[in-house]
Amino acid sequence: MTFILRGSIVHTPKNPFREAEALQAFSDGGVAIAEGKIAALGPFAEVARQYPAAPVQDCREGVLLPGMVDTHVHYPQTRVIGAMGYSLLEWLEQRTLPLEARLSDNKLARELAREFVRLLLRNGTTTALVFGSHFQGATANLFGAAEDVGLRIIAGQVCSDRLLRPELHTTPEQSYAEQKMLIRRFHGRGKLRYAVTPRFALSASEALLEVCQTLLQEHPDLHFTTHINENTDEIRKVAELFPWSSHYLQTYDRFGLVTKHSVFAHNVHPTEPELARLAEAKAAIAHCPSSNAFIGSGIFPMRQHLRHGVRFGLGSDVGGGTGFSLLKEGLTAYIAQRYAQDGVNLTPTHLLYLATQAGAEILGLGEEVGSFAPGKAADVVWVRPEPGSTLEVHFRHLNSVEDLLGSLFTLHGEAKVQKVWLEGREAPLD
Ligand code: GUN
Ligand code: ZN
Repeated sequence: MTFILRGSIVHTPKNPFREAEALQAFSDGGVAIAEGKIAALGPFAEVARQYPAAPVQDCREGVLLPGMVDTHVHYPQTRVIGAMGYSLLEWLEQRTLPLEARLSDNKLARELAREFVRLLLRNGTTTALVFGSHFQGATANLFGAAEDVGLRIIAGQVCSDRLLRPELHTTPEQSYAEQKMLIRRFHGRGKLRYAVTPRFALSASEALLEVCQTLLQEHPDLHFTTHINENTDEIRKVAELFPWSSHYLQTYDRFGLVTKHSVFAHNVHPTEPELARLAEAKAAIAHCPSSNAFIGSGIFPMRQHLRHGVRFGLGSDVGGGTGFSLLKEGLTAYIAQRYAQDGVNLTPTHLLYLATQAGAEILGLGEEVGSFAPGKAADVVWVRPEPGSTLEVHFRHLNSVEDLLGSLFTLHGEAKVQKVWLEGREAPLD
């Protein structure tokens, strides 16, 4: 059945870091949806003329956005959000890893998986690259929960074999066997995809990184994700553990893990050779501004990434990050760049692009999601200002679409995700 959503429509079909007029908007717009895909987009009157029999959903209060894309988020960490006063390695040891160890309990894992998927949707995220659990069963629960609601996720069982805590350690042989099973069961099933996910080089032996390499060789369409260059103590320890490496990226590159299917979270402290190599390999970065600020890791050198042509999208990095909202990540990225020495002057258009199409592209889904381009999956978010809020006042007195977006990102806390459609089907939000 074809139907039309009517409202203020904004999206970024083009890259504002490279092209002018990347924002496309229709103040009284229509998006026609047929068989889960965007069938048409334009001024409402035109779309309605094209599909005269199609029922219309009135979404004129607020704004319609493409479903947002979170390129880095941890499923076991929802309940860690807000743990203040730690730097990265203390935060992991004292707050995060103890909770992650509890996911050996499948009942708790299932509960957390359902909760996690619901919270992504309630925040308007419809596609995500997710760090799973160290446990196979818990990771299977994540895939199951995403499939149940039709959420598009790329995820994998996290692997580590040293320096965390014994309950979270695997062996190269065990990890290979468990991941093979998960790949067979979930990779390519509906909207689910598998990502090979060593936690970070600090907690991976060379033998374990070789297993990651073998998996990618055996399944060339798998994704790869991990952490890199987040914190200066972490970087120093990684250099000690891999004395042959000339930089952090090389600990992955030696094992064939730096490719166009790779997404590295953070990269707050990269060297020039690392940026050059990332660009050469077409590997990408998940930029996680609220996490970088909250854990105190540093400010993302966005201009350096742009100069080298290294692609990046936004990640919430829950629970190092301060919540699931990619609108908030957009605002935090904006503020961080204002503070930076050589910061990028981001516009609301950049923020929307980073929260949607940029993420889709770095996940290899740029043709499938990220904008309202006809033919893409109809993943749509309807956002409304809370009644009586500052955002509502702003929405009543707008001068331009860029103003609308600027207000939306800045006052994101007063924006309610009213409805979410996944491939044209309304998703449950509670
Ligand atoms: N590095 C290794 N593990 C983690 C994690 O869970 N969160 C963040 N932010 N960095 C990490
Ligand atoms: Zn992370």
